[in-house]
Amino acid sequence: MSTNTIDKPRKVTTATLRKMKAEGEKIAMLTAYDYSMARLVDASGMDVILVGDSATNVMAGNETTLPMTLDEMIYHARCVSRGTDRALVVADMPFGTYQGDANAALHNAVRLMKESGCQAVKIEGGREIRESMEKILSAGIPIMAHLGLTPQSVNKFGGYGIRAKEEAEAQRLLEDALLVESLGCFALVLEKVPADLAAKVAASLSIPVIGIGAGSGVDGQVLVVNDMLGMNKGFKPKFLRLYADLQSVIDSSLKNYIADVKAVSFPSAEEQY
Ligand code: KIV
Repeated sequence: MSTNTIDKPRKVTTATLRKMKAEGEKIAMLTAYDYSMARLVDASGMDVILVGDSATNVMAGNETTLPMTLDEMIYHARCVSRGTDRALVVADMPFGTYQGDANAALHNAVRLMKESGCQAVKIEGGREIRESMEKILSAGIPIMAHLGLTPQSVNKFGGYGIRAKEEAEAQRLLEDALLVESLGCFALVLEKVPADLAAKVAASLSIPVIGIGAGSGVDGQVLVVNDMLGMNKGFKPKFLRLYADLQSVIDSSLKNYIADVKAVSFPSAEEQY
């Protein structure tokens, strides 16, 4: 019998998440974009790691998520998959890879799954991408839907403000949430919507609803790892809680290193051959 499965933690699956919702256990989800961070996040006991297209903001300095390419996403998701044993790895489908022809959407989703080793894809939108969702789901690829503030539509919205404050948009969002559940999506991300609406959506669905800026009445939370670790202190939206001040830790560490190099106190006798 092979022994290498004995020490491996039990993998989180889409079924695990559905059970967690049914049993009232909240789901913790965080982004990661590279192998080293994925190892740390996975070892913490995180349930889901999202390889968000926010990678193109955080890792590449782009202002919006629109420039992200499928090849870049495959690269990030492959690095994260290599560093993850337990968490469910979900990768974003980049802008332009699923909004048009459903066959192209399926082709791109298959590439993302096959070439990165992720276990599910996330896509932004509801009824307008129904055909793509159906096609991708028909191939056995799990989809996490994303409604509310969908950053790939920033140019349509004209910014990153709160969505669905008005009754008509809130009603449309609820209908879209019910639709994506009925199509077979395994989870839904709700971004920057009023907490009351998010709680109503979560109570109306049997699939887990994961919020970001959507209050505490949902089934789990997601944040961008660099933001919550305080590596990007210029970005401080209301929904973000800082769990560390890595910007200060890194800054003082780097300054200490420079000072040690200049003073020739690094390397010491013990740090050379
Ligand atoms: O790309 C991303 O990081 C996301 C989360 C903010 C939900 O979509």
